[in-house]
Amino acid sequence: MRLSGKVALVTGGGSGIGRACASLFAYHGAQVSISDFQCDAVFEISNEIIECGGESLALTGDVSISDDAKRMVEVTVERFGRLDILVNSAGVSARNALGNEAIEEDIWDRVMEVNLKGTYQVSKYALPYMSAGGGGSIINLASIMSLVGYQGAAGSGLGPYPPSKGGVLQFTRNLAIEAAKEKIRVNCLCPGYVETSLIEGMMSDKDVMRELVSRHPIGRLGKPEEIAYAALYLASDESTFVTGAPLVVDGGYTAQ
Ligand SMILES: NC(=O)c1ccc[n+]([C@@H]2O[C@H](COP(=O)([O-])OP(=O)(O)OC[C@H]3O[C@@H](n4cnc5c(N)ncnc54)[C@H](O)[C@@H]3O)[C@@H](O)[C@H]2O)c1
Repeated sequence: MRLSGKVALVTGGGSGIGRACASLFAYHGAQVSISDFQCDAVFEISNEIIECGGESLALTGDVSISDDAKRMVEVTVERFGRLDILVNSAGVSARNALGNEAIEEDIWDRVMEVNLKGTYQVSKYALPYMSAGGGGSIINLASIMSLVGYQGAAGSGLGPYPPSKGGVLQFTRNLAIEAAKEKIRVNCLCPGYVETSLIEGMMSDKDVMRELVSRHPIGRLGKPEEIAYAALYLASDESTFVTGAPLVVDGGYTAQ
C-alpha cells in the first residue's frame, strides 16, 4: 500500500486521468476526495471506491471559482483531518471549454481560467493544510504542450491550450522552490495524447487519429491508467527527492 495513511484531493476526478488517479490512489490505501463539476460522474467514481472497501468523498465545484476551490480543500480536511496529496487534473481544451458558438477570446479566457488559474487556486488553498501536516505533494497536469508547440490546423497558433500548459509547468517550478521549505513537493506530469473525453472529437475522426498515433513512436495513444501510475510515484514517498520536475509520459512524442 504505497499511500496508506495519506489523504488525497483529486480535481477533475470525474473523468479520464483524474478518475484513474482517484481509483489507483484509493487502491494504494489513500483516503480520496474527488471533485469535479460533473456531479453524476464524481458520485459514481466515489461510490465505486467505497464499494471496493476504500474511503472516498465526492465533491462538486468549479476550480476556476475561488470559493469552490477553497471549499474543496476545506471539506476534504474536515472529513479526513489532513491533506497530503493534491492532483490538479481539472482541465479543458479549446474544443470543449465552451459551446461551439463561443467567440475566440472567451475560449482563450476559459481555458486559462480552468487550466492555469484553477491549478493556482486549489494549490493556494491546499498549501497551509499541507504545511500544518508536515508536508505534502502537489501534482499538476501539464502536457507535452508545455514543452513543444501544437502542430495543428491553420489558426491553431493562436490557441490557448499550449500557453495554459506552459504556464502550469512554470507555476510548478516557481511554487516548488518556495514550498520546499515546508516539505511540500510540487511536480507536474507532461502526458502525450491520452484516450479520454478531452480528445473525444479528435479520436472520432479516423484521419486525425492516424496522424496523432503516428506522432507517438510507441505507436498508440496513452491510457489514463498509465498517467495515474506516474502520479502515484510522485504522490508516494518513493519520490521524496523530486520537486519542480516535469515528468514526461508521452510514448516518445517529445523525444523526436
Ligand atoms: N487527454 C489528453 O490527451 C491529455 C494530455 C495531456 C494533458 N492532459 C491534461 O490532463 C488533465 C485531465 O484531462 P483528461 O484527459 O482526463 O480529460 P477529461 O475531460 O477526461 O477530464 C477532465 C475533467 O475535468 C473536469 N473539469 C473541467 N473543467 C472543470 C472545472 N472548471 N472545475 C472542475 N472540474 C472541471 C471535467 O468535468 C472532467 O471530468 C487536464 O488538465 C488535461 O489538460 C490531458
